[in-house]
Amino acid sequence: MNGFWIALLVFAGVAAVVFALLGAASRRESTSATHGATFSREALKRDKAARKAKAREEAASAPPTGREVEVAAASARSAALEPVGDTKPVAWVAPDPEVLDQSRRAFLNRSIVALMGLGIAGFAAGAFTAFLWPTGSSGFGSKIRVGKISDVKADIEANNGFLYQPEGRMWITEYPAAALPKAESTYSPAELTGMKVGLVALYQKCPHLGCRVPSCNSSQWFECPCHGSKFNQVGEKKGGPAPRGMDRFATEVAGDTFVVNTGQVIAGPPIGTNTTGQEAEGPNCIGAATGEH
Ligand code: FES
Repeated sequence: MNGFWIALLVFAGVAAVVFALLGAASRRESTSATHGATFSREALKRDKAARKAKAREEAASAPPTGREVEVAAASARSAALEPVGDTKPVAWVAPDPEVLDQSRRAFLNRSIVALMGLGIAGFAAGAFTAFLWPTGSSGFGSKIRVGKISDVKADIEANNGFLYQPEGRMWITEYPAAALPKAESTYSPAELTGMKVGLVALYQKCPHLGCRVPSCNSSQWFECPCHGSKFNQVGEKKGGPAPRGMDRFATEVAGDTFVVNTGQVIAGPPIGTNTTGQEAEGPNCIGAATGEH
């Protein structure tokens, strides 16, 4: 063996030793590193567990956060809305049309009866109230206290022989005492009561067709402007188409007061009645009468 091969073998042996040493060193480092890594993970685990425990302790001692409060409230609401008992929907059953129709008819019938009852009750209440209500103590249709007899006569003279009383729709005139004997055989007691104290109460409505009959100062009669009927001062017919004398009211005397009952109309005296014999005392106010009876 030459020197070259010997040198090569020595070099290879040296190299093998070097590689062996390097491999051992490398294994030692690797083992050492592995042990170090193992130690580091355990330490990290311990640290992490310690941090979690600390966090739990802090969380347990700290007040709840807003988020925690909201979550707790939502949980409570959900618990409150928990269905109780059997919550299965009930199947809808259509009502019986016949029963429905009967109910509607019954309702309408009861409504009609109730309305009729209310109407009758209202009418009865009104009638009852009207029945109990005192009749008018004044105004047309009632007994009107015209005034003291002497005062009434004074007023008549002050008004040219005719006193108009609008409240009673009547004229009041004087009845001459000298005519009383004739009057007693012609007029009713209700008329004579006034005549005996010298007064007559005549309805203003013409017995022909109902016009208001005015007095005529010149003739001292009543003369109707509608068709010319004429009546003397106590309402006895003197001309025109009127079928009778002027209607009048029942009279009463209460002490010295003249009272006229405008609720009791007495038909005027028949044509031809002339108890006072009064003729026109001047020109007539109305022209020639038409349809003279
Ligand atoms: S209404 Fe008075 S005369 Fe005809």
